[in-house]
Amino acid sequence: MDSSEQRNVLVTGGNRGIGLAIARAFEAAGDRVVITYRSGEPPEGLTGVKAEVTDSASVDNAFTEAEKIFGGPVDVVVANAGITRDTLLMRMSDEDFDAVIDTNLAGAFRCARRAVTGMIRKRRGRIILISSVVGLYGSPGQTNYAASKSGLVGLARSISRELGGRGITANVVAPGFIDTEMTAVLPEEQKKAYLATIPAGRFATPEEVAAVVRFIASDEAAYITGAVIPVDGGLGMGH
Ligand SMILES: NC(=O)c1ccc[n+]([C@@H]2O[C@H](COP(=O)([O-])OP(=O)(O)OC[C@H]3O[C@@H](n4cnc5c(N)ncnc54)[C@H](OP(=O)(O)O)[C@@H]3O)[C@@H](O)[C@H]2O)c1
Repeated sequence: MDSSEQRNVLVTGGNRGIGLAIARAFEAAGDRVVITYRSGEPPEGLTGVKAEVTDSASVDNAFTEAEKIFGGPVDVVVANAGITRDTLLMRMSDEDFDAVIDTNLAGAFRCARRAVTGMIRKRRGRIILISSVVGLYGSPGQTNYAASKSGLVGLARSISRELGGRGITANVVAPGFIDTEMTAVLPEEQKKAYLATIPAGRFATPEEVAAVVRFIASDEAAYITGAVIPVDGGLGMGH
C-alpha cells in the first residue's frame, strides 16, 4: 500500500483483548495505527498514547498526540474501550451504573466528537463503535452495560444523519461472546449456559471481530452507515 492510501487509525483500549486484535489487523493491512492505553507500556510493535475515556481533556490530548504521530487527522476511530460492572438491578449502585455509562457510552461520544473535526475537513472518516449483542438482546445482571451498549446505536445513527453527506460513516459492531479477559472471569456454569444458546456453538476469537471492523473501515463499505453489524454466531438474530 502506498503512503497516500494508508489511513490513520486510532483504537481506544487497544492494549489488550478485542482492541489489540483490531489494532493488529489494521497494522497488518498497512495502515498507520495508534492505540490508547491507560497504564504500563503499549504492546510490542504498536504506538500508544495514554487516554482515559471518561475524561474529555485526556481524550483531546490523546487525539492531539496521535495527530502529531500521524502528521494529520484521524481517518478511522474505533471506540472500543469498555467495562462491565454486573449485578442485579435491585443491587446496582448509582456508581456502578454511572461508571459503565461514562466509560462505554460517554467515552465513545467523547472520541467521536473529537474525531469529527478532522474528518469533516478531510471529507472522509469512519467511526466504529464497539457495542455488544447484549445492547439489543438484554441480559440479566447487565442493565448498566446493556443500556450503555444500546445507547451507541442512537449515537451512531445520529452521527450518520448529521455527517453522512460529508463522507463520514458511523457504525456499530456488536460482538457476541469473544474469548478475552472480559469473558474469562465468567463462571463456568454461565459460560456453558451461553454456549447452549449460540447457534455457532462456540465463542469467537478477537480476530473475527477485528476482520469485520476492518471491512467497515474500508472504502468498499462507504455505503454502510448507521448499521448494527453483529459478530455473534447468531446469538442475537432478529434483535
Ligand atoms: N469480550 C467479549 O465477549 C465482548 C463481547 C461484546 C462486546 N465487547 C466489547 O468489546 C470491547 C473490548 O472488550 P474486551 O473483551 O477486549 O475487554 P478487555 O479485555 O476488558 O479490555 C478493555 C479495554 O478497554 C480499556 N478501558 C476500560 N476502561 C477504560 C477507560 N475508562 N479509559 C480508557 N480505556 C479503558 C482497557 O484498558 P486497561 O487495560 O487500562 O484496563 C482495555 O484496553 C468493550 O467495549 C466490550 O464491551 C466484548
